Amino acid sequence: MRVRILGAGIIGLSCAEELIRRGHEVVVVDRDPGRGASYAAAGMLSPSSEVWHGEGALLDLGLRSMALWPGYAGRLGIPLHTTGTLLVGRDGGDLQLVERQCALLARHGLDVPMLERRQVRRREPMLGPRVAGGAWLRDDHSVDPRAVLAALLVRARVVAESAAPAEVTVVATGSRLPEPFGRLVRGVRGEIVRARGDGLPAHTVRGWVHGDPVYVVPRASGEVVIGATSEEHDGPPVVSVGGVARLLQAARELVPGLDRAEFVEAIARDRPGTADNLPLVGPSEVDGVVLAAGHFRHGVLLAPLTAQLVADHLETGCVEPALDPRRLSRDGLTREGTSR
Ligand code: GLY
Repeated sequence: MRVRILGAGIIGLSCAEELIRRGHEVVVVDRDPGRGASYAAAGMLSPSSEVWHGEGALLDLGLRSMALWPGYAGRLGIPLHTTGTLLVGRDGGDLQLVERQCALLARHGLDVPMLERRQVRRREPMLGPRVAGGAWLRDDHSVDPRAVLAALLVRARVVAESAAPAEVTVVATGSRLPEPFGRLVRGVRGEIVRARGDGLPAHTVRGWVHGDPVYVVPRASGEVVIGATSEEHDGPPVVSVGGVARLLQAARELVPGLDRAEFVEAIARDRPGTADNLPLVGPSEVDGVVLAAGHFRHGVLLAPLTAQLVADHLETGCVEPALDPRRLSRDGLTREGTSR
């Protein structure tokens, strides 16, 4: 099959890699490959810490895709960071949020015991002494999305534009979908800070500081990615002084060693949110156009599963009902949704 993919982010490129592997002819179209939301992403492969009430379907998808990641990363020659994720609370109220997350996971059959302050610090000595406690999500890992993008870009043929005929077009342009699909996603700005130094954690640390959510994701290079703000907005995704200040304030409370770290970068991109927080993967109402979009907070995690689903759909016509893009048009839903 001749396939044109619009968008060279982690979703579009993962679809390309899977389709090429299966013997299809693929061209990816993007004027600025690999520089969208995937370029800013922290790369948490963390179905458990991301799930929220009413998102059981998303948790299932995340766990299915997580199971694909070791093989996918191996194929791309990219290491996974497999120390697990520490979910922590700075004060008593924050610890209640950790407990609630563990209770939510228990309702989905995932048993995550709580750890006392000293147990958490024994596991991750770079945590601050006043962290109140937490839990260890041993199966929630991370990957460097920029390394994944680089590996995928050498496998795909990416052009700035293409008028070449294709049997199918796959739209994977993140938070900015071409018409008539624009109303299906909305941009939810996320700001990220990168820092480098000693005294930084070996685990992904995720938690709440006086009610504010924050995460710190280590890279093998000695960098950490600190994220992320989350803001519904209609403007361009710029980095704001307030956003960076809030992130750093929260992150430094959890990881005091950040004070001595070198500030490397602050970057903002829009997450592609949908009305029900589930991605759009499958046929659209336009003949020959398939969507692989709307991955909101989960693009990196869901990339290998999305690639398989898209390739399976093109080859057999099968569609996952929960992800069928036509569900939103059928229900008259547009991009308004809920986020936290
Ligand atoms: N998945 C992390 C974020 O969207 O900030």
